[in-house]
Amino acid sequence: MAGLAEPGCTASFVVGGRIKGCHRRAERRLNDRTRQRLAWAAVRALSQYDAEELARRTGGPRRFPDGFLWGAGTSAYQIEGGIDLDGRGPSIWDTFAAAGNARGDTGDPGADHRGRMVDDVALIARLGLPAYRFSIAWPRVQPEGTGAASRPGLDFYRALVDELLKSGIEPIVTLYHWDLPQALEDAGGWPARDTAARFADYAVVVADALGDRVRRWTTINEPWCAAMLGYGAGIHAPGRTEPSAAVAAAHHLLLGHGLAMDVLRARVSGRGPDADQRPEIGITLNPYPVVAASSAPETDADRDAVRRIDGIANRLWYDAVLRGAYPDDVLEDLAPVCSLGHIRDGDLGQIARPIDALGLNYYRRHHVRYEPGASAAPSPWPGSPDVAFAALAHTPTSNGWAVEPDGLFDALAGVAADYEPPPLYIHESGGAFADVPGDDGRVHDADRRAYLDAHMRACHDAIAAGVDLRGFVVWSLLDNFEWAEGYGQRFGIVHVDFATQRRTPKASALWFRDVIAANGLPGA
Ligand code: FCB
Repeated sequence: MAGLAEPGCTASFVVGGRIKGCHRRAERRLNDRTRQRLAWAAVRALSQYDAEELARRTGGPRRFPDGFLWGAGTSAYQIEGGIDLDGRGPSIWDTFAAAGNARGDTGDPGADHRGRMVDDVALIARLGLPAYRFSIAWPRVQPEGTGAASRPGLDFYRALVDELLKSGIEPIVTLYHWDLPQALEDAGGWPARDTAARFADYAVVVADALGDRVRRWTTINEPWCAAMLGYGAGIHAPGRTEPSAAVAAAHHLLLGHGLAMDVLRARVSGRGPDADQRPEIGITLNPYPVVAASSAPETDADRDAVRRIDGIANRLWYDAVLRGAYPDDVLEDLAPVCSLGHIRDGDLGQIARPIDALGLNYYRRHHVRYEPGASAAPSPWPGSPDVAFAALAHTPTSNGWAVEPDGLFDALAGVAADYEPPPLYIHESGGAFADVPGDDGRVHDADRRAYLDAHMRACHDAIAAGVDLRGFVVWSLLDNFEWAEGYGQRFGIVHVDFATQRRTPKASALWFRDVIAANGLPGA
């Protein structure tokens, strides 16, 4: 079947069994594995769309399918501030940031969203955003991570949801975006199995408060980051550098997800405006397509480096959630640093509870090669100490992340070809740029606009290739506390002056409003 695709043709150009054209420039950037997967994606897509058919169906060359969900996102610790309100308890990020691990910044006052929520929702409405993704701060709802809920904490989120719904904005709720109650970290944190059970209890509290009015839920945001950056590399809270703990944390985050799936499935009844709009409950992962960095012919060791990083960054999570098994080669890689005794019978079945939607956050690829000791602990790659990561030259972003929209296409086509995922949503995509208001008081962030345009085009290509992608949520609504980078990196489509908390929509926000109104991108 894969032979239908002439070698070198990417998916979107193979239509109805006939070769329509070749995308050789893009093709050259793909490694063999990706190319093979794309061929499969093309084959799977034959009966679905192609770019022309999609244009016909949607009324324009870069139009998105009807009902495509556009939005912008935030997370609690990054914007809320109000850390002493509602009886909120400390989270691991309060502790970690207060110890000077975020360039001296903390999430207090963030963007003071706790105090400005009503105005922020009005802003979201003015920007014409149909959906808003936000997270619940676990320690605002359960200050110690266990036991009775804080009523004022829940009331804040009830008010936020009601305000959104009143304005016709669809809430997408994330239960966990990294702000573990400190009391639970003191009891062992995610490396301890009990934390997964506590997470399920917390899910009960939130589902009972919001489950009647919120239809779109994601359990955990980017468990790779929470486990590997938090417990392996120590560059995120809680700042531990224990490879074995990182591996156990990964498993318990996934187990927490699976347990919370059962809770949400049983308790969420929130419907969309149409009777047939059922709850959509899932998880948010952050795939990184992995390619060999060497310009010289790759060695077997380079290929092994690609396999290893792909294993920990991508396959570990996809396989567990979508297939109910960890990849054997990843377990072998991890065995030298962890007994794996924390994986109990039945856990994978729990983790692989059917999900209705899969959120993907995409920022860039990993370009890797073999280099002895280059990723030795402390590192987010437990059990794989010999991998070097190449930084691409000429990145226009302020945080040095490469701009690789083709990688977003690869990520979407890859998961569609290798797994049988439920409908996909981009839950985060965006770039950090050094935005400074001009003399006219406006922020002319042409670079961010170009960034978003390119990534949305990659999504359009993926849809034309047959990927069931249903939405795109920009990261981020507001400039915010960018974790270990503090307030130094601005990802917002709305500028925040942190001295005054004044919000100024950037040019990209106004451009995005037009994209949403047209349900499509300008140009061909
Ligand atoms: C993602 C996080 C999000 C934000 C972006 C830039 O990994 O989920 O909170 O920090 O990166």
